[in-house]
Amino acid sequence: VREIYLAGPDGREGQLTTDLTALEDAVRAVLPPAVFGFVAGGSGTGATGRANRDAFDQWRLLPRALHGFTRRDLTLDLLGHRLPAPVLLAPISAQTAVHHEGEIATVRGAADVGLPFVLSSYSSHSLEEVAAAAGPGPRWFQLYWPSDDELAASLVRRAEASGYTALVLTVDNPSVGYRPADLDHGYLPLIRGTGLANYTSDPVFRAALPPNAGPEAVVRQWAQVNGNPSLTWDRLNRLREWTGLPLLVKGVLHPDDALLAVANGADGVIVSNHGGRQLDGAAAALDCLPAVRTAVGNTFPVLMDSGVRTGTDVAKALALGADAVLLGRPYLYGLALDGRPGVRHVLQCLLAELDLTLTQIGCGSVRSLGPELLAPAGPLG
Ligand code: FNR
Repeated sequence: VREIYLAGPDGREGQLTTDLTALEDAVRAVLPPAVFGFVAGGSGTGATGRANRDAFDQWRLLPRALHGFTRRDLTLDLLGHRLPAPVLLAPISAQTAVHHEGEIATVRGAADVGLPFVLSSYSSHSLEEVAAAAGPGPRWFQLYWPSDDELAASLVRRAEASGYTALVLTVDNPSVGYRPADLDHGYLPLIRGTGLANYTSDPVFRAALPPNAGPEAVVRQWAQVNGNPSLTWDRLNRLREWTGLPLLVKGVLHPDDALLAVANGADGVIVSNHGGRQLDGAAAALDCLPAVRTAVGNTFPVLMDSGVRTGTDVAKALALGADAVLLGRPYLYGLALDGRPGVRHVLQCLLAELDLTLTQIGCGSVRSLGPELLAPAGPLG
């Protein structure tokens, strides 16, 4: 923030906006409509996407004055690693659909700021290629558990072998969401073969392909193993046979599911409705967070995503019980608009506002944000 003001009115000419809520409009102007619909769109009527934002807006911050804090501590210890701030980059599939460097640019932009990137199973570069481009800090791998366990084990073992430091199992995707934008455009990157690099580079997947398989056969084979509605909680222990990595379960909204994650050996949960892309009408992720936190107790790692757009959003999520948040579409928009510098820009803006928010609210550390700094909208009693 200081650098921007010191550079003066011409210092930022041609650069991306610092208003992270305005990025979507900028992206709409540069991406083909089908691709924009895929990244920005939600399921059904879009009710859950709107609810995610409304939930943040319904909480107001209740700042304390003359608190005397001259330093803010944004750091957080999570699963054995120190993070510079309580923010990670959410797993987002098929990133070359929005920028030719895809996940390579994203992981470098994340490394510029020192934040962990969660790589999607459906990435356009293989997990080994992304690992080679990554910085030294922690980075996580997100698993869509395919219906073939041998393939699942292979993906998990490859992730561990290439230095990913945690595994995220996404559980809110037993089927694809009903997404009108994608249906109307007849467009999904995966069906076009974008986002299958972890599959085409996998020995188990390749062994099941017919000889001389072309791109269509690859997509057909992937469609066979994709989606796994038969999965049950007791299968989490199979993951434990394949890897010693910490395991987080992403896509939990119900507190009883959070308890099942704990009971079945997970090391953390991510409260999320997939950014409103799966079940239309599902509860806002922020609204589900306090009950999940109460269910699992004070020390179990709870993260959240879906609707985080600003530094004040991060503060609200932490005050309501999250240890950290994941940022989704905003960094993808940064990638679409300007590659690695675009990702870096978005993350720097978010962290700058979080830092200022701590000062303004009167809180010395992200770890001490609590509900006493929040008030519901409306007159206070
Ligand atoms: C996603 N998300 C997602 N999640 C996941 O576990 N694996 C994946 O491959 C994807 N792919 C994906 C693609 C696109 C285009 C979007 C926008 C999202 C969901 C993502 O991890 C996260 O939960 C949401 O993006 C968070 O909501 P916001 O920040 O986008 O509102």
